[in-house]
Amino acid sequence: MQTVTESIYDHPRYYDLVFGSDCAAEVKFINAINDRFLDGNAKQLFEPACGTGRLIQWLAKRDFSVEGIDLNDKAIDFANKRFAKHDLPQAAWVADMADFVPKKKYDLAFNTINSFRHLLKPKTATAHLSCMAAGAKKNAVYLIGLHLNPTEAEMVDEESWSARRGHLSIVSHMWTNNRDSKKRLDRFGVRFDIYTPTKQFSISDELVMRSYTDQQFIRMIEMEGSWDIEATFDFTYRIDHPIEIDATSEDVVFVLRKK
Ligand SMILES: C[S@@+](CC[C@H](N)C(=O)[O-])C[C@H]1O[C@@H](n2cnc3c(N)ncnc32)[C@H](O)[C@@H]1O
Repeated sequence: MQTVTESIYDHPRYYDLVFGSDCAAEVKFINAINDRFLDGNAKQLFEPACGTGRLIQWLAKRDFSVEGIDLNDKAIDFANKRFAKHDLPQAAWVADMADFVPKKKYDLAFNTINSFRHLLKPKTATAHLSCMAAGAKKNAVYLIGLHLNPTEAEMVDEESWSARRGHLSIVSHMWTNNRDSKKRLDRFGVRFDIYTPTKQFSISDELVMRSYTDQQFIRMIEMEGSWDIEATFDFTYRIDHPIEIDATSEDVVFVLRKK
């Protein structure tokens, strides 16, 4: 099969199919977080690194006002076209999540599936937390979902799954190329094998992410100083199952509360 080496984020249609499958669970969880931590009063939501706007679309349909930013102009274009198709406002724009000002102050923000780890340096990670704090209303809540690097458990180093929408089907593969715990950089190989009735090809990419152990993440939040960690959950998104994190934790959603 012919393979092109390109960023998977430059292919929002394919990205959206591959990573869009858990939308319902994520949207339900964000709603439950609103009920549990904000007494159901959140009106204005914000998503840094919103990608294709898959979550914004569903939340905007539930009468929230939602905005999002992403560095990738193709993803933003895809997101705004999708909102237009659903008669929703053009809610996404291009910006760097380490240096931005939300248009409206928000009650609840969410940053799921490792986007935070795209901030590769301590300076950009803390700049992001500070921008988020500056754009937050009093008592606002910010959810960061990411994979930690456990120090006392084996990590999952390879996964494959498939997704289908109409005549488009994609088999995706992700594997670890390298983990450099000194530099705090993890490199993951990604390949999408794409099948349509008229063509078959693969997109190959490498994602570079900053790594965090549980203690490194907690220390960073404490040092930046704008947020308290109020609760932690895992990627099963069960509001009645908060977890205690430790050196074995891998997939974690941190519930941060603005100080
Ligand atoms: C794993 S995707 C998640 C997208 C979306 N949140 C979702 O759940 O589908 C990561 C996104 O982070 C974006 N990104 C990476 N670095 C960024 C930065 N510095 N500022 C804003 N977005 C960034 C990428 O363009 C990509 O769309």
